[in-house]
Amino acid sequence: MVRLHINIDHVATLRNARGTPYPDPSFAAGLCELAGADGITAHLREDRRHMRDADIERLRASLNTVLNLEMAATDEMLGIAERVRPDVITLVPERREELTTEGGLDVLATRAAVEKVARRASACGIKLSLFIAADAEQIEASRDLGAQQVELHTGEYAHARGAERAEALSRLARGARLARQLGLEVAAGHGLTRDNVGAVTAIHEIEELNIGHAVIADAVLVGLERAVRDMRTALERGVAARPSGGAA
Ligand code: PXP
Repeated sequence: MVRLHINIDHVATLRNARGTPYPDPSFAAGLCELAGADGITAHLREDRRHMRDADIERLRASLNTVLNLEMAATDEMLGIAERVRPDVITLVPERREELTTEGGLDVLATRAAVEKVARRASACGIKLSLFIAADAEQIEASRDLGAQQVELHTGEYAHARGAERAEALSRLARGARLARQLGLEVAAGHGLTRDNVGAVTAIHEIEELNIGHAVIADAVLVGLERAVRDMRTALERGVAARPSGGAA
């Protein structure tokens, strides 16, 4: 089984576009759970462009599955995480001017901040995942700094075509294998769609996906529950294509 976590940030984006109280991200999260999502992912950005502090608190109170809080490795976010206690913290790089999280975290360059989050997350019993490129140095540093999981950035794969896409996929497979050998759990995410997800879940070591934009975009057209179920069907086609044909 590959865990499917739905990132519901863009439910909040839609709400904030008109300053209305709807659509409610917690309500959307409940529907995702009903449709079989294994967890909910939400990114509390420094500029609060989509999720707000109160959304994260409501998610914590209402979820029956797993709350994965994406955040930058700052003191402010660490304080919020210690108060709200998500099940998982995923550290991501953050720049105000970016449209979305455009690259992986440079764990080597942010070692001190990551180490601090790792120590305090561990004291609270919160699992730590680092959103990184499928690069051996980053994966090894993630393990050394105390992460339990890495989330490999699939954006390059999702945006490339032809031979470049095949090479990006091979890099993901090599990174996933190394991470697993080092005892890390392996997640993946960014830019995944029903069309491109199968090749990622065909990688034996991938245990979890975090998918947002494509599911919420589908949901606008076909409804959230169907969008989640269709994504599950698409990712399971990849799992069935694994060399062993089996689960991770
Ligand atoms: N994983 C992480 C760490 C992210 O920052 C994002 C984007 O917020 C996603 C997964 C989901 O990416 P997408 O919205 O392209 O599915």
